[in-house]
Amino acid sequence: MPNSKAPVITIDGPTASGKGTVAHRVALALGFHYLDSGALYRLTALAALRKEVDFSDEHALAKTATALHCHFSGEHVFLANEDVSAAIRAEEVGNAASRIATFPAVRQALFGLQLNFRQPPGLVADGRDMGTVIFPHAPLKVFLTATAEARAERRYKQLIDKGFSANMHDLLQDLNERDARDANRPIAPLKPAEDAFLLDTSHMSAEKAVNQVLYWFAAAKRRDEKKPPAGH
Ligand code: DC
Repeated sequence: MPNSKAPVITIDGPTASGKGTVAHRVALALGFHYLDSGALYRLTALAALRKEVDFSDEHALAKTATALHCHFSGEHVFLANEDVSAAIRAEEVGNAASRIATFPAVRQALFGLQLNFRQPPGLVADGRDMGTVIFPHAPLKVFLTATAEARAERRYKQLIDKGFSANMHDLLQDLNERDARDANRPIAPLKPAEDAFLLDTSHMSAEKAVNQVLYWFAAAKRRDEKKPPAGH
């Protein structure tokens, strides 16, 4: 059962904005659980690609999401019992994930799964709609941004480090296409929650971004401790 009292920090932002690294390190620093919601879309996309599901068939894609047999262990992600941590990071899978994420039935199928990650002592949730749709009452919402060039450069380094080949020009083009699709879809588009803190990480180290989030969280905790309990 998800625990509705466990505090949640939502960290949303576009692809390669650094949210994965920042969210993961914030979770480690606080001893909180970590939800990589993008991984759930990527796992669904990978499962659908492997089963050769028709990518225009919303119902079949939602069924694939509902039947997703996955688990996380540290930094590893498993589909059934296969470690697919590297496979889900391939650009082809990221693009497929962005496409299936436009379908309301797929988003609905992954909704409850995401809520289940909210467990004591707390959760850091990373994605596109964590603050706007999944955890709208989170005590701290952060939206990370970075220029497309800075993000393409980061993605390039990540891919090369993981042994994939990469080309800056293609990456920048893919990233712009994916941003446009994530931002313009009618359901749960990529946009900051009204009460989100914005953080531009284009010229910022991960360490500095993490410290900023921890500082905001400490301030949010102090603010909430001063509030009278609900119903009074
Ligand atoms: O963060 P990422 O690149 O791993 O996410 C892959 C795709 O999944 C992204 O292009 C859009 C989709 N996604 C989403 O729609 N909502 C989320 N909360 C997380 C990811």
